[in-house]
Amino acid sequence: MTKSAGARVRAVAAEIVDAVVSRGQSLDAAIAANESRVAPDDRALLRMLSYGSLRHHWRLQCWIDRIVSKALRKRDRVINALLAVGLYQIAEMRIPDHAVVSETVEAARHLQRPKLAGLVNACLRRFVRERIAACEPRDEQSEWNHPSWMIETIRKDWPDDWQAILSANNDRAPMWLRANTRENSAQEYLDRLRDAGIEAELIEGIPEAVRLAEPQAVLNLPGFVAGDVSVQDAAAQVAASWLLCDSLSERTAARVLDACAAPGGKTGHLLEIGPDDLSLLAVDSEESRIVSISDNLQRIGRDATIIAADASKPEQWWDGVPFDGILLDAPCSASGVIRRHPDIKLLRRASDLAGLAVSQQALLEALWTMLAPSGTLLYVTCSVFAAENDEVTGQFLESHDDAIENDVLQNNNIHDLMRRKACGYQILPGTAGLDGFYYAALQKRRFPEDTDVPAEHF
Ligand SMILES: C[S@@+](CC[C@H](N)C(=O)[O-])C[C@H]1O[C@@H](n2cnc3c(N)ncnc32)[C@H](O)[C@@H]1O
Repeated sequence: MTKSAGARVRAVAAEIVDAVVSRGQSLDAAIAANESRVAPDDRALLRMLSYGSLRHHWRLQCWIDRIVSKALRKRDRVINALLAVGLYQIAEMRIPDHAVVSETVEAARHLQRPKLAGLVNACLRRFVRERIAACEPRDEQSEWNHPSWMIETIRKDWPDDWQAILSANNDRAPMWLRANTRENSAQEYLDRLRDAGIEAELIEGIPEAVRLAEPQAVLNLPGFVAGDVSVQDAAAQVAASWLLCDSLSERTAARVLDACAAPGGKTGHLLEIGPDDLSLLAVDSEESRIVSISDNLQRIGRDATIIAADASKPEQWWDGVPFDGILLDAPCSASGVIRRHPDIKLLRRASDLAGLAVSQQALLEALWTMLAPSGTLLYVTCSVFAAENDEVTGQFLESHDDAIENDVLQNNNIHDLMRRKACGYQILPGTAGLDGFYYAALQKRRFPEDTDVPAEHF
């Protein structure tokens, strides 16, 4: 990479970081809007710098506040972001200090701030000199790289695990695949990967999952275009098998609703492992995301009925025929997938949780009316917060006499990966390399004759 190209990548990374930190843009959107400004070969570095600088935001800001003697003007906030990008490289990446300093200083010129190039130079050189003194965290935020409210909430909800959760959130997530078992088993796909020189392993308890030793571009994966494999965290893969194998295995021609389906990861899995006569309706309220469901299904060669609709308003789209199984992969804070989306730490607010819980309850209420007697609704979030998980499902069970929890996991190996909650189960982020997911299977009683049947019966 030429010096100019190296400086450009750092300048664009600083603009991406600034877009998230100062303007509240999502990291995915900021990358999508800026990625084309650097050469294709430099995009992996661009992502690494942007993700890393946001993942370590509080620690880097603590260091910046120590080494910048005079506060930057509001209109020069992008230079603050550039310093974060520079410090991240010095502290976390194996790039020689002198190269980082020279390219980051040059990046200030790319950002049309030539007068601040000297300040960037002085600050980075000072950090290289005083590294140890500058590194001491000043508070819990800079120690754990999370906002205070998140540290507090995770500590309250997980008094024995909060530190492990925060540490896991600061790691880079592994890349997981899901073998399309209509085309090849996970073991067969593992062999194909090995033949292609790609190292990977299986995980006990999640039968279609394959974990790559190193992330790969999807086009490097054997059979990706043909649909032999998909990218999906293994914790997310628990949904389809739980709903189909554990809850609906006895039924023929089961009618299943995937209520919050886009981009269709779990829809595709349901169709891959479900019986040929499975009738699947995929619903999502975001018109713009609907197309991603059909694209995903087309690639794996499966089909479902897909509609854009508000799942909490069945009167607008439901034909009145009950579903045997419903997957509610509810919109949530995504606090279980911070490893993949470090901007969540900056964009989410404590006050979001109450509003999310209201939507989650509204979805549960509406979907319950569409569930057939003895059918199962699997409530899923990628959150670790009780306010979106067992508090929502617990309240639902208390207020619905016809609802019981089906806590019998037929796949015993999954037990080892999960924590039992008052209602439902939690996979904590980082457990066996998995994302954080919450699952609760709610079953509808058949009134009146089943009223006294104990839960173990189901
Ligand atoms: C966690 S994502 C679903 C991920 C998806 N199940 C998968 O595995 O690929 C939540 C989805 O819920 C959708 N959503 C939010 N509120 C909704 C509503 N009221 N009705 C239907 N979909 C909704 C969002 O557009 C988003 O696509």
